Amino acid sequence: MSATTDILFTPFTSENLNLKNRIVMAPMTRSFSPDNIPGEDVAAYYRRRAEGDVGLILTEGVSTNQTTASGTPNVPNIVTDAAKAGWKKVVDGVHGAGGKIGVQLWHEGPYRNPEKTAHPDIPSWSASGVKVPGKAIWEPMSEAEIETAITEFVDAAVAAKELGFDAVEFHGAHSYLLDSFFWDQTNLRDDKWGGDWKGRTHFACEIIRRTREKVGANYPLIIRLSQWKQQDFSAKTAATPQEMEQWLAPLVEAGIDIFHMSQRRFWEPSFEGSALNDAGWAKKVTGKPAISVGSVGLSGEFIAAYGGEASEPASLDRLVEMMDREEFDLIAVGRALLQDPEWVVKIRDGRNGDLQNFTKDALGKLY
Ligand SMILES: Cc1cc2nc3c(=O)[nH]c(=O)nc-3n(C[C@H](O)[C@H](O)[C@H](O)COP(=O)(O)O)c2cc1C
Repeated sequence: MSATTDILFTPFTSENLNLKNRIVMAPMTRSFSPDNIPGEDVAAYYRRRAEGDVGLILTEGVSTNQTTASGTPNVPNIVTDAAKAGWKKVVDGVHGAGGKIGVQLWHEGPYRNPEKTAHPDIPSWSASGVKVPGKAIWEPMSEAEIETAITEFVDAAVAAKELGFDAVEFHGAHSYLLDSFFWDQTNLRDDKWGGDWKGRTHFACEIIRRTREKVGANYPLIIRLSQWKQQDFSAKTAATPQEMEQWLAPLVEAGIDIFHMSQRRFWEPSFEGSALNDAGWAKKVTGKPAISVGSVGLSGEFIAAYGGEASEPASLDRLVEMMDREEFDLIAVGRALLQDPEWVVKIRDGRNGDLQNFTKDALGKLY
């Protein structure tokens, strides 16, 4: 272990979740699940990351129903018996290799493209039918649809616990269904599901609260959030730290344990006047553990962008400094781990010369 990366290999302890190190595999859609069922190749892919000492694996986004939740072919669900049996093998494989795995529950909401699905006649769901601010393309979700969506999230979380997943992460980021309720540009409702922060967090809070009732006080519940939106990387759901608190506090009250704040570059500050990033602020305003993410271990333009060494894929100094200051607790790694299941052990053992750069070719296979 190199002295500079010690913090990454310190065990993480919290109320509901303990991990052997601070590295989380970021959720990454792979679309390798024909008929929405994760097969042996998917199980082997996750197991390889467990063998490679990832502290917590988060699965790719997993659909909470077979109609409105997904528009993407070969995305797994956690609804059918066959898909659940597939996930059981994934979980058992990861546990067999001494790892831990949480499932990311995903409803694409307004970013589902009906035409790409088996149900092109079913409109997509979102708070106000708005995908991009300024234009409603569908009807707002009805009260009955909201109830159905909540129930489906809760059922999926309960199924995940029964299958042996070590945690559930609700995908509340990147303009998808939950995010369409959080952001005032896409939530134009004037009923109890919209309006102020209380209204705009109500949908997520109901999912969390009802899940918490079913899974018990000790089961880890994570939520992934992003300020940025798919069509606008500079968007901000919360314009100030005070707004961040108004956004996150209700989620804690509803039963969230850990915040996973999605950023494209972990070193970018959230608000003027402070170096804290989104995970830093999440931890500061809630007191809850936080996961950061964004361009860790990537070389080229990403590293150059903050003045690191372009020739060194794992220039992690900035990350280590922020974690040493306890600004956030865990770091998620996406593309570097998609490329290389051994990324963690290579970093731990200082085998920097063996690190591989991420290339788009890696997306085409499930190694
Ligand atoms: C191929 C791919 C698929 C992704 N799929 C998801 C997903 O299903 N859910 C999610 O929350 N984020 C998803 N992301 C975003 C990643 O979780 C992560 O936040 C992003 O890649 C930045 O981390 P990195 O720079 O370490 O790759 C995906 C990213 C990639 C590259």
